[in-house]
Amino acid sequence: MKIDGRDYRSVWVDADDHWSVHILDQTKLPWSLEVLRLTTRDAAAHAIRSMQTRGAPVIGAVAAYGLCLALREDASTEAMERDADLLNATRPTAINLRWALDRMLTRLRNTPASERVAVAYHEAALIADEDAAQNAAIGRHGLPLIEAAVRPGRRVNVLTHCNAGWLATVDWGTALSPIYTAFNAGIDLHVWVDETRPRNQGAALTAWELGKHGVPHTVVADNAGGHLMQHGEVDLVIVGADRVTRTGDAANKIGTYLKALAARDNNVPFWVAMPSTTIDWTVSDGVAEIPIEERSETEVTEMTGRMADGTIATMRVISAGSPAANPAFDVTPARLLTGLITERGRCPASAEGLLGLFPERR
Ligand code: MRU
Repeated sequence: MKIDGRDYRSVWVDADDHWSVHILDQTKLPWSLEVLRLTTRDAAAHAIRSMQTRGAPVIGAVAAYGLCLALREDASTEAMERDADLLNATRPTAINLRWALDRMLTRLRNTPASERVAVAYHEAALIADEDAAQNAAIGRHGLPLIEAAVRPGRRVNVLTHCNAGWLATVDWGTALSPIYTAFNAGIDLHVWVDETRPRNQGAALTAWELGKHGVPHTVVADNAGGHLMQHGEVDLVIVGADRVTRTGDAANKIGTYLKALAARDNNVPFWVAMPSTTIDWTVSDGVAEIPIEERSETEVTEMTGRMADGTIATMRVISAGSPAANPAFDVTPARLLTGLITERGRCPASAEGLLGLFPERR
């Protein structure tokens, strides 16, 4: 995506520094656009764990590049398997992480150690390029949903939760890809951006992305969505996902499930957009089987923002002594979803729906 006239991806390797891996430091947004240069396995693992890079598809790509960095230190089979495990353990919910590392290992196990570094960089670049292409396709397949909501003299209102934009993928985004595609096609639309406490990915990242692209949007408190739906202010909801079961249940940022309940009560279409790399074909019951990341309580007890003098400050917003809990994701059962938008098209959120698009999984 273009930011201030320059094309960015959320992870890349420079032609003149072809071993290092670059990411945008998402913990610094929206206050400053900072590029991080990763040169070691540990730096890549830290970037994922600390959410300097975050969002299901992009953490898969960064983990793949992290394995490249690890192989530069030690390309033995023993080290490679250990390093892949270490990278995989950085975050538990998004399946793209394991998918990308499994793909790397499958390619590398049959490669002589002396050739592994070159092969690994090639494979990681393929993973990144394919993710960008899949997300562009999600935009094309999601576009008709927004076109169908166009009414004369009225803008289309889309609500989204968390950040499932280009920052969360290698490029384009998942939930935001249909929005960018529709906006680029000249459709008059507006996006309600859930702030997405506790880490504010909506307020800090989605609003920044949309603003940089010129897409009209309004940030709302997480609890505003139901009210907006009751008053006809939301034509459709599109969110991303961190893991979708073979039956169509979708794990996404905490609070997604509540939005889906409100959407169902108000007959608002609720779509999940994700590449097939987010589908966990081994899991059928999302609520029972998808591991939900439990993050630090300080993410709930504290907030970070820019002070009037420009400095970035973190402050406690909860009374001293009150404990906090921080489940980072929830699971929306397939029955609450209108459908899924994938790189191969749209389908009902069900085993049959997914198998219709991915018959090779039958
Ligand atoms: O904890 P995060 O910020 O990594 O969570 C991200 C989300 O929940 C996104 O909605 C999801 O990964 C989809 S990204 C295209």
